[in-house]
Amino acid sequence: MSRKAIIAGNWKMNNTIAQTKELVTALIPLVKDAECDVVICTPYTDLATAVELTRGTNIKVGAENVHWAEKGAFTGEISANMLVELGVEYVIIGHSERRQYFGETDQTVNMRAKAALAAGLKPIICVGETLEEREAGKVEEVLVRQTTAAFEGIEKEALDNIVIAYEPVWAIGTGRTATAEVANDTIKIIRDTMAKLYCPKCAENRVRIQYGGSMNAKNASELMAMEQIDGGLIGGASLKAEDFSKVVHF
Ligand code: PGA
Repeated sequence: MSRKAIIAGNWKMNNTIAQTKELVTALIPLVKDAECDVVICTPYTDLATAVELTRGTNIKVGAENVHWAEKGAFTGEISANMLVELGVEYVIIGHSERRQYFGETDQTVNMRAKAALAAGLKPIICVGETLEEREAGKVEEVLVRQTTAAFEGIEKEALDNIVIAYEPVWAIGTGRTATAEVANDTIKIIRDTMAKLYCPKCAENRVRIQYGGSMNAKNASELMAMEQIDGGLIGGASLKAEDFSKVVHF
């Protein structure tokens, strides 16, 4: 298996610039020997600080969203080229909190992903079912729909620059982690979908799929030991340098 692990922090709406300085400064020495890719996704206002502090280190910086247009009358939005100019490398797209509270749809996820790729950003595309959907036996239907829509019109060549994050909505911020088996089996559904959309080899070798949802220092090693799980998207546990570094060293 040639997929390199990738652990990304999703700070959500946390950390001022002062707190960013403190957290990143503490994190740099703790993760400098990491064997996986290390990313921190921060609020827009912290990006410049995070990029500056991590320059020359193994920590990459990501944003938490991006608009699909290059520029224009979209009050409150940020375009991909604005992020690239800052030195940002990754961007989270379609997080369930955006789908739930801010009207994100499968179609806007796809538009944002294409704009990110066109500008040279690496999207971390989030998919995941709600508790009702899981209880109604619709996990496969939902994930196939979300994945297929997210990758509409995206060429095979782009796969090396895309990460998928499987985040069951019922596990986010709830302390209720999916068991390693459930996470693994569900990620397999996503990988099989990618095999159908692209090719089996591409899905096997080039598509990195993270698990996200209450992943932390305690459960990271068990999750990361699973065949299908290539990394983690870490919310709560990414806000303390010590905790996040333990996940990075799963
Ligand atoms: P959590 O968040 O680790 O706090 O559950 C994960 C996420 O929403 O990306």
